[in-house]
Amino acid sequence: MIYYLEPDDLQKVLDLQNRIYAFLKEQSNPRFIVPRTEAYFTEHLDSPHKIAALQSDDGQHVAQAIFHAPHDFDVAELGVPTLPEGFERGMRASVLQGMLIDPAMRGQGLMSRFIEQWQVWCKDQNISHLAARTEASHGASQHNFKKHGFTLIDTMIDPRDNAKICVFHKKISA
Ligand SMILES: CC(C)(COP(=O)(O)OP(=O)(O)OC[C@H]1O[C@@H](n2cnc3c(N)ncnc32)[C@H](O)[C@@H]1OP(=O)(O)O)[C@@H](O)C(=O)NCCC(=O)NCCS
Repeated sequence: MIYYLEPDDLQKVLDLQNRIYAFLKEQSNPRFIVPRTEAYFTEHLDSPHKIAALQSDDGQHVAQAIFHAPHDFDVAELGVPTLPEGFERGMRASVLQGMLIDPAMRGQGLMSRFIEQWQVWCKDQNISHLAARTEASHGASQHNFKKHGFTLIDTMIDPRDNAKICVFHKKISA
């Protein structure tokens, strides 16, 4: 079952990121994630954000996703020049970030379950605009957002690593 992490779970979050980054590096594919700092995770383990997580049957922390939802959301965070259709300034919005699944647990629909949970959480928070950024060549991510009714609103180049990024958006009724 997906649950929410507490501030004292910081080490778990860092360990999973390190494990996944090392795995991607081994595969010469480190650019699928931009590693987040300890300060970033500390901020997101606290309100108004949430870090959702899953444990394996033996209690190991194997998956996490950040539900980023600042009170002062700025569309510039998405890196797109214009507001998504239907988006009005001042509305609360959420961006799914830091989606990480342990390599041993992939292909079992866990990302899909996190996207479902994120939508439930947004609804509870009265957030109706959801957005996500994903690497253009990452098939599973593209597939999952489209499968859950997200629309590709723009593509851009991330100046941090020159990766081509797709920006997805969905409006739900809060
Ligand atoms: C991206 C990531 C989160 C996916 O997690 P996952 O739990 O393995 O994904 P799921 O099992 O939910 O998705 C599998 C689905 O994607 C589809 N898929 C997998 N590879 C695909 C590809 N190359 N092209 C199209 N679809 C693909 C599968 O067919 C499956 O579809 P279905 O559920 O409709 O049958 C995981 O690979 C990961 O942690 N990667 C490293 C970190 C990362 O890249 N994060 C950024 C994500 S934006």
